[in-house]
Amino acid sequence: MYLGIIKFVLGVKLLNMKSKVTVTCPSNIALIKYWGKKNTGIQIPQNPSISWSLSDLNAKTTVQYRPGDIRQINFSYDGLVKESFLPKINEFFNRIEEILPWVKNGIFNIDTVNNFPHGTGIASSAAGFGALATALVELENKLNKDTDEYWNKVSEIARLGSGSACRSMYSKPAIWGASEAIHDSSDYYAVELKEPIHPSLQNWKDCVLIIDSGEKKVSSTVGHSLLNGHAYAEARFLQANKNLIELIQVLKNGNVDRFIKIVESEALQLHSMMMSSIPYYMLMRPNTVAVIEEIWNFREATNLPLCFTLDAGANVHLLYNKEVESSIKTFIDTKLLPYCQNATYLCSGIGGKPQIEHHD
Ligand code: DP6
Repeated sequence: MYLGIIKFVLGVKLLNMKSKVTVTCPSNIALIKYWGKKNTGIQIPQNPSISWSLSDLNAKTTVQYRPGDIRQINFSYDGLVKESFLPKINEFFNRIEEILPWVKNGIFNIDTVNNFPHGTGIASSAAGFGALATALVELENKLNKDTDEYWNKVSEIARLGSGSACRSMYSKPAIWGASEAIHDSSDYYAVELKEPIHPSLQNWKDCVLIIDSGEKKVSSTVGHSLLNGHAYAEARFLQANKNLIELIQVLKNGNVDRFIKIVESEALQLHSMMMSSIPYYMLMRPNTVAVIEEIWNFREATNLPLCFTLDAGANVHLLYNKEVESSIKTFIDTKLLPYCQNATYLCSGIGGKPQIEHHD
């Protein structure tokens, strides 16, 4: 037993590593969508995307590491062992060995929990892999958290878990994928938009209207692959590039009308790519369409700054300027709630980045 403790302390000290860390990482919602992967590497996007972090919808992950001769991963969700998650986590560890060679060996006890209820249809992989990636870079203890290098590394590792996860690292809008609009943009990791955001787009919120909490019929990973050979793929990638360039301008100049048009068009383009894939499929439900129409009618009647976006699912993300929050809440409660499953919706602020707690 003593020998074990000495070996553990020496192992961790030699590597200058930490042994236990907890990270809380936000989820994110894309304004310009990542949909389609290149065949030139792992999770390399066909087009650049941009997202807002969702500060109030997050994953909290604790990783405890002990040196060992082989790699052993124990995974639990809120304290309950979940072996079904292990194949994906193991694959993730295999993918990141090139960037973090020390993960080849050792015992990793990973526990994670989301602060939003299970069965809401909200994707948790972005927050989950964002938290795990941050925890691993933090355990390694090599880079200074105040540097771009640190967060680029976290983002690159998160990308290898789930593409969209690489955008959960930044409080400001996160851009992933090389674009002529952003000089330091990369296909390998996301960067934050460094220029100031116009006040009219600085303080927005996202309420996720839960339309269908069931498991998706077609996973995102399969959905991405259906863009290979898709009849409209090249046109979609061009559109996304163009939309990204304009959206970045809009975030700086505060043209809310154009913001709304681009964001809604992106959501509908994402779903139209699904509907025109072969095999075709549809993730929107009748209530998704009903809510979109309610949003359009309400906006036309009130001229308030609100719009919708969609993820790869039936739920509707209602984005709005916080200044008009009370009108939006009344709108949700009176008009939209009947379309929501179990009258459920979850609201979040925009922004937020991984928060780190140490245990040593
Ligand atoms: C529709 O990141 O979930 O949410 O890279 O295969 O893990 P993998 O896919 P994932 O794709 C989600 C795409 C999207 C749009 C977006 O977030 O940009």
